[in-house]
Amino acid sequence: MKKRLVTGIRPTGFLHLGHLEGMLKNTVSLQEQYECYPFVADWHAITDRSDTSRIKDFTRGIAVDWLSAGLDPGKSTFFVQSRIPEHGELEVLLSMLTTVARLERCPTYKDHIQQLAEKDNPSMGKLAYPLLQTADIIIYKAVAVPVGEDQVSHLEISREIVRRFNTLYGEVFPEPEAVLAKTAKLPGLDGRKMSKSYDNCIYLSDTAEDIRKKVMTMFTDPARVKRSDPGHPEECPVFAYHEIYNQDETEQIAEDCKKAVIGCVDCKKMMAERLITSMSDFHASRAKWEKEDVDAILSEGSKKARKVAQETMQEVRKAMNLDY
Ligand code: TRP
Ligand code: SF4
Repeated sequence: MKKRLVTGIRPTGFLHLGHLEGMLKNTVSLQEQYECYPFVADWHAITDRSDTSRIKDFTRGIAVDWLSAGLDPGKSTFFVQSRIPEHGELEVLLSMLTTVARLERCPTYKDHIQQLAEKDNPSMGKLAYPLLQTADIIIYKAVAVPVGEDQVSHLEISREIVRRFNTLYGEVFPEPEAVLAKTAKLPGLDGRKMSKSYDNCIYLSDTAEDIRKKVMTMFTDPARVKRSDPGHPEECPVFAYHEIYNQDETEQIAEDCKKAVIGCVDCKKMMAERLITSMSDFHASRAKWEKEDVDAILSEGSKKARKVAQETMQEVRKAMNLDY
């Protein structure tokens, strides 16, 4: 039997190139090796915001992007968190096995508090974020969880909870493990991390023309003021893209940049075309999925996921003497 894998993404916005290169391609590549349960974590999306008005659009957008990247609903169980209320039931039970102090020590929670304005208070949902995430994973008895570095502390909490549950009530859950992807880091247009909040993204819904325009606005090596100034490719976000999307010519470009043989405008134009070419399959696939009934796919997947979740909950209730 194949091992199970669970991974979630929060619908807080539309996805960008960083998501495609990191998360989406990674889960798609693991589809053969594992029995996969990719999902949209819509409850997690509202742990620090009350505005739910766009959540449905974002969920649909994410589903379209994931499917366009090659997620196969025939192979993977693709679902929406809030359609499986058992995640919430399990979270309540797990909350009895976890101290408030343990959750307050979680680095992502501490960061969140630091960023809050003086008058704001963190929500209970934010504090319990790793508990819900644990429920998401262990309700499918998943062992593999592909996540970014920032999520490792959550997985550590998951493993502690699983050990505690199994010691108290018997072996029900396997310990899940983070699977860190070794994907190339893709900077945003301004050289910082690509992020919606920095307004420096190339979105997966951007057209070829959008991409050309955005690439022309990209930051380059700040030391190259004049065309004749030698450049430092390792300081330049445009070069980071060449390294991913134009591997055959990277060496040449590095040399030409250092000797000021090539100008930044030409360098950007070349990169934009390479990027567009390597996205062409994705763009074609996306145009197709845009027209499909994606919600039907999510409903079907949610039905399948719910069956598994319900079976686990029966086991959990029995183990905890709550099956009366
Ligand atoms: N916390 C994850 C993130 O922000 C999203 C998530 C929610 C998740 N539940 C999950 C990831 C379960 C993996 C498994 O990226
Ligand atoms: Fe960057 Fe290319 Fe300009 Fe060099 S020539 S600084 S790699 S954009």
